[in-house]
Amino acid sequence: MLKGKRIILGVTGGIAAYKIPLLVRELKKLEADVQCIMTPASCDFVSPLTLATLSQNPVYIDFWNKKDGTWTNHVELGMWADVMVIAPLTANTLAKMTHGNCDNLLLATYLSAKCPVLIAPAMDLDMYAHPTTTQNLEQLAQHGVLITPAQHGFLASGLEGQGRMMEPNDLVREISFFFEQSISLYGKKVLVTAGPTYERIDPVRFIGNHSSGKMGFAIAKSLLKRGAEVILVTGPTQCQLTHNKLTRCDVVSAEEMLQQVKEHFPTCTGGIFSAAVSDYRPAEMHSVKMKKTADELTLQLVKNPDILQWAGDHKKHGQFLVGFALETNDALDYGRGKLEKKKLDCIVVNSLKDSGAGFGVDTNKITILDSNNKKQAYELSSKDVAAHNIVEYIVKNKL
Ligand code: C5P
Repeated sequence: MLKGKRIILGVTGGIAAYKIPLLVRELKKLEADVQCIMTPASCDFVSPLTLATLSQNPVYIDFWNKKDGTWTNHVELGMWADVMVIAPLTANTLAKMTHGNCDNLLLATYLSAKCPVLIAPAMDLDMYAHPTTTQNLEQLAQHGVLITPAQHGFLASGLEGQGRMMEPNDLVREISFFFEQSISLYGKKVLVTAGPTYERIDPVRFIGNHSSGKMGFAIAKSLLKRGAEVILVTGPTQCQLTHNKLTRCDVVSAEEMLQQVKEHFPTCTGGIFSAAVSDYRPAEMHSVKMKKTADELTLQLVKNPDILQWAGDHKKHGQFLVGFALETNDALDYGRGKLEKKKLDCIVVNSLKDSGAGFGVDTNKITILDSNNKKQAYELSSKDVAAHNIVEYIVKNKL
């Protein structure tokens, strides 16, 4: 998995740096190409000569070489790498990364790197538990940085707790796992629809549903983790997600959602349609607030466009299409019917009969049916795990 992979290994000034030679050795054994960038402080913990010898590459510390006046091109280093790993990552460099400081070569390379970045924080337990550190890690995660959390155990301070850098062998496994996962959708662009749609009655009222958007956002997150670019077309939701490979298109009604899908789906490798689109909308939208004069009120509704059906009808060769079917009864039969009618590659069926599945909750219980007549049922799980299973199914079955 790591053979020929180009890894920039950023080393910062924490005691766990003494383990980095072992990490370099393991990566080299697996035939990865490793270039180390060290912060000046890290040179007090591990010698550049050791890392240069083990990596069989020069070690970069400064922006320019004082001996011959040559400049180290951080942009080129960032472009060269398939992944940048920063281990150990101190609280100081973490904070600088969060705020975009770039007062050393490692930070400048991080800021200009186009490749995914994986970090292995290591610090004393109180520093790790500090709310600032937690916030900084959350912020980096939102920027798409992959985090291997610090481990529990004996710390250099003599204390015991969470703060140890992940052991080199485990880090190698994480890096391999990253390549296994991220390569799968690298260079692909996927459209996801999420959330409810609101169909306006008048300026203050609408017809809507209880969809929270959580499932669609979890799917977007899972796709981003695997290196895909995501176009997330979402109805009104409280969900938040930011990532440098995410384009979020907020819409309100089904017609607005269809417009966005028409614009983006043709440029995508595929689409996962999890939005709970209102089937009908008021025939007329009143421009002023309706008055409650009459005792009875009849609203005339007209059918909304079926957005997924549009995508199925316009799907090009090689594009994959995944739909959802939320049913109250005969879920599998209805699901298969929709799979065929909407020309899908697979459909994710969930039943409101299953407790813990459906709208608003954080869990889901899904069954995937595909166009090759295969069926895979999953246990009740968090929506994040369900999203992972859906994305993994797409990747494994090369949809
Ligand atoms: O036919 P039904 O509404 O049950 O189909 C559900 C699937 O179709 C979901 O994937 C949903 O996102 C999609 N859909 C759509 N536009 C509609 C109705 C449903 O994209 N108007």
